[in-house]
Amino acid sequence: MTDEWVKIINNEKVNGKYYKLVFHSESLSEKVSPGQFVQILLNASLDPFLRRPFSYYRVRGSRIEILYEILGRGTALLAKKKKGDPLKMMGPLGRPFTQSLKAGKNRVLIAGGVGVPPLVFLAEKIPVDFLLIGTKSKDEILPKKELARVKAEVLYSTNDGSYGAKGYVTVLLRELLKKERPENLFIQTCGPAPMMQAVFNAARARGIEGEASIDKPMACGVGACLGCMVKTKTGWAASCTEGPVFRFDEMREWG
Ligand SMILES: Cc1cc2nc3c(=O)[nH]c(=O)nc-3n(C[C@H](O)[C@H](O)[C@H](O)COP(=O)(O)OP(=O)(O)OC[C@H]3O[C@@H](n4cnc5c(N)ncnc54)[C@H](O)[C@@H]3O)c2cc1C
Ligand code: FES
Repeated sequence: MTDEWVKIINNEKVNGKYYKLVFHSESLSEKVSPGQFVQILLNASLDPFLRRPFSYYRVRGSRIEILYEILGRGTALLAKKKKGDPLKMMGPLGRPFTQSLKAGKNRVLIAGGVGVPPLVFLAEKIPVDFLLIGTKSKDEILPKKELARVKAEVLYSTNDGSYGAKGYVTVLLRELLKKERPENLFIQTCGPAPMMQAVFNAARARGIEGEASIDKPMACGVGACLGCMVKTKTGWAASCTEGPVFRFDEMREWG
């Protein structure tokens, strides 16, 4: 783990939802696995004071990409940053997604919102059978070149029906469950808490194994502030160090 200032190489809008931040760092790109994240300090003036967590979206050599959407003040500030501007980054942090699976299992990734970047990273790195992505509308669909290295069958749902299936991403999951045997599936999910709750409920009802990356705001990122605690079956766990990825069978609740 390292904490260093980097210089932005590029920071541009890629569609109606996401921006892509690009920078280089030898140490931040070393031994990174999908599901891990960086804590970004936006200004040396410490305004905003707290860092913001962002998943690794793509790592090639020392080149690192982060895909983000504007949610509030911090991400709005990030979107205004220009080529050459400095950012302080701490990473890689957190427990990543499981990559090795039992023979015969089909890997299904289910993503929405800020959960899309880590799951696209995973789908670029290892064989994945299905990547299900839920968005609000067509203008939030990632440009084709962003998924060029993903070998999985990619299926979209949009809330307004402007692209792919109409409705939440769980519509796609329900369709998939009509064709696939539940015991052959392994689900990995990241996105809004209600989405992951619905995925978890569907999986639990059918005994499907899987993992979820919990999206908790993180102040320190290193287990010190106890601001990101989640309830597991064995007690409270710091999402930044013991997660953000948890197995379904470890979890008591989401959010
Ligand atoms: C492990 C992890 C990885 C993440 N990876 C990415 C990523 O790759 N791309 C990306 O765009 N975002 C990602 N996020 C979410 C990102 O950290 C938040 O969007 C960001 O911190 C919001 O900061 P802000 O100052 O813009 O918003 P704030 O002003 O802090 O909040 C604005 C609004 O968003 C809500 N909010 C704040 N943080 C979160 C959150 N984590 N989840 C849901 N709602 C929140 C607040 O309650 C408030 O309503 C990740 C979060 C975690 C925990
Ligand atoms: S963010 Fe501080 S303990 Fe997790």
